[in-house]
Amino acid sequence: MKFKKSIIEVLLVSFVLAFSASAAAKDLRLGLIVPNSHAWTAAARSMAKDLKEQSDGKYTVSIYPSGQLGSEARMLQQLQTGALDMAFLTLAEITNRAPEFGAFYEPYLVENVEQAGELLNGPTATKMLDNLPSEAGVVGVGYGIASMRVMLTNFRATSAEDLSGRKIRITPFPPVRDFYNLLGAAFTPMPLPDVYDALANGQVDGVDADMELVWKLKLYQRAQTVLNSNHMMFPVIGLVSGRLWAQLSESDRKLISGVAKKHLNALFPKYTKIQAEMTRNVKNAGVDVVDVGPDFFGDVTDEWDVQWTRKAPVLKDLKAEAAAIKREDAPQ
Ligand code: BEZ
Repeated sequence: MKFKKSIIEVLLVSFVLAFSASAAAKDLRLGLIVPNSHAWTAAARSMAKDLKEQSDGKYTVSIYPSGQLGSEARMLQQLQTGALDMAFLTLAEITNRAPEFGAFYEPYLVENVEQAGELLNGPTATKMLDNLPSEAGVVGVGYGIASMRVMLTNFRATSAEDLSGRKIRITPFPPVRDFYNLLGAAFTPMPLPDVYDALANGQVDGVDADMELVWKLKLYQRAQTVLNSNHMMFPVIGLVSGRLWAQLSESDRKLISGVAKKHLNALFPKYTKIQAEMTRNVKNAGVDVVDVGPDFFGDVTDEWDVQWTRKAPVLKDLKAEAAAIKREDAPQ
């Protein structure tokens, strides 16, 4: 009789424990615009695994890539209302809400993704995250990166003048719009998922993108030239809903932001390799890949700088930090 009672007690305790653990467990929904095969989605998967382990199962993450939850603008709204918990979004989307982030797109601010990593983990970029809760209703937990930007054209391009009047797809945000405007191109704002079809059906003559997209979205199949210009960095930012953040304990905030930042930051060294590999793939596919630098764009980069120093005064500090990073990197 006594034995039977203790079995019942054990079962009862196990049930209560299991129930309270599942009641406290939280599945975080995380959205991305990039496809499942993209390095940002792989970073989200690694983060999810790490977070589950480090929280002993308290936090799991369900990942929604390829814009399944809508455009980045829509995901940002969902973060604000609390309908979405987390997102890895292009910093471009944030720039639409908080224009000072446009400063990161200064042409040739840095020379490569490793330098971008140093700048994005530097004092100015870190401090800029403090403004996000009030400006956009989200908390920024860290930056990562994609490859440096290149230009793909379905016509032969040998000079910046060749871009004049051509319809070039751009990510919809002001810094890149201003750049193509200064180049005299007919810039065509378009989200990533629409790009392949637009190029295939002649809606655009060229695309501002990176080598990973040129390869993975098969854009190279429609290319005559890829101008390997590396003209801008293209950061990703990890965001948590401000509403969710307000409900989290200090230790859970630290855990989630620490794990997210670690996996976003791992993208910087990864992209040095990805960029080289994708460039090789595109060349091997027979596309004319032409290396060009700042001189290719003539006065346009300086004109952009004048415009954006006015729009985003923080650019002055970022340029000073970037100059120091470039000096450290320069061959002795
Ligand atoms: C783009 O709009 O070109 C883009 C979006 C997400 C990741 C990389 C590039």
